[in-house]
Amino acid sequence: VSATGRTEADVLIDGETIAAVLAPGSHLLGTDLAASVDTVIDATGKYVIPGGIDAHTHMQLPFGGTEASDTFETGTRAAAWGGTTSIVDFAVQRYGERVQDGLAAWHEKAAGNCAIDYGFHQIIGGVDADALAAMPGLVDEGITSFKLFMAYPGVFYSDDAQVLKAMQVSRDTGMLTMMHAENGPVIDVLAAQLVEEGKTDPYFHGIARAWQMEEEATHRAIMIANLTGAPLYVVHVSAKQAVEQLAAARDRGQNVYGETCPQYLYLSLEEQLGASSDEWGAFEGAKWVCSTPLRSRAEGHQDHMWQALRTNDLQMVSTDHCPFCMKDQKELGRGDFRAIPNGIGSIEHRMDLMYQGVVTGRISLERWVELTSTTPARMFGMYGRKGVIQPGADGDIVVYDPNGHTSIGLGKTHHMNMDHSAWEGFEIDGHVDTVLSRGKVIVDDGAYLGAKGDGRFIKRGLSQYLV
Ligand code: URP
Ligand code: ZN
Ligand code: ZN
Repeated sequence: VSATGRTEADVLIDGETIAAVLAPGSHLLGTDLAASVDTVIDATGKYVIPGGIDAHTHMQLPFGGTEASDTFETGTRAAAWGGTTSIVDFAVQRYGERVQDGLAAWHEKAAGNCAIDYGFHQIIGGVDADALAAMPGLVDEGITSFKLFMAYPGVFYSDDAQVLKAMQVSRDTGMLTMMHAENGPVIDVLAAQLVEEGKTDPYFHGIARAWQMEEEATHRAIMIANLTGAPLYVVHVSAKQAVEQLAAARDRGQNVYGETCPQYLYLSLEEQLGASSDEWGAFEGAKWVCSTPLRSRAEGHQDHMWQALRTNDLQMVSTDHCPFCMKDQKELGRGDFRAIPNGIGSIEHRMDLMYQGVVTGRISLERWVELTSTTPARMFGMYGRKGVIQPGADGDIVVYDPNGHTSIGLGKTHHMNMDHSAWEGFEIDGHVDTVLSRGKVIVDDGAYLGAKGDGRFIKRGLSQYLV
């Protein structure tokens, strides 16, 4: 299955790369060639797809007074189990820090530890003269996209003047601007007022992060991109009004794109409000504290995200995998939701969760592959090597069984380094059977056969979406 169609075929892998895709009628099995291959994987009745690419992850991210609980080792292994064979994680530069040093620190965290191939975007958390001067040099390092934050004042935040200057670099270099589009200064005031009123439960995180401030920031980012001519990619879109801003800009011919995440397709603010457990009481809702937040189902955001994936108003699905345990991590925010580290862990389940869109008729089989693999490869300068099954491409392949079944939850299919699952109890029609990374079988029928360090750094080219 590719982004453009499906065919019955055999895939021949030689070493790390795909050597041939043999069309119907020229089957490998039963020919002389079959006798000469080392390994035959029978995928009869199953889908053979290019390995998933999760272009938004945060392994070992220091955030909210703690650090994301998946290391590059545990997080990429969980990814492999779930049919994802490449990630693009975010290296971080903060105020007063050199961009080159921030990037070097992330290389150090990842090198030799990953189960699958990995690239980096660069978070520019302190846009100053030094950072602006350093950014063009990232392209030669294979870092062809950077993320800015209109949220989180005092942490990663850029004001509009900083956004403008960074976007001018984006225009001049072809680096893709990735935007966290929420109005942080307004949200922080609303959050402080809620806490003042004693509204400290996790649910109020989502009330403070109102959709109006996602729509507003998305619009502002679009207009500064319009002014500068920078290509723009808005990350973790959850509000239907933000999608409408993106769609309107695209209708005007502007080069803007949007990503959503499984949590914004499946989970809701109402469910977060209703969450309660013996162990945590209403603080149970902390499991789903992420930014942008879960949105109201009554307001129709989730349905709108699915529709936008179908109509191409949104182009990609990544996880924004940013896992934190409840114990010692999320619980830092007991009594004040502002101190709950933001993030949900989903890297293991993205391919399965998105496949449910095929099962329920919301997206086609081809669109599933496009949203989770092919477009990520094209958007972030990896296409040809990644995101497609064709001669010369890396042998990153998933054999997916549409008749299999996957139960999600702790003690079931949970390999992420978390003490809970945001997806507990989800039952999936479909199953990741076999996963190959550069020709090596790393997952087979639930068994992990790879090794730490299998994954290599992906030096990315410029986005294919610049014109
Ligand atoms: O809640 C989230 N999204 N945590 C990760 C940081 C970010 O803004 O992507
Ligand atoms: Zn973000
Ligand atoms: Zn993120």
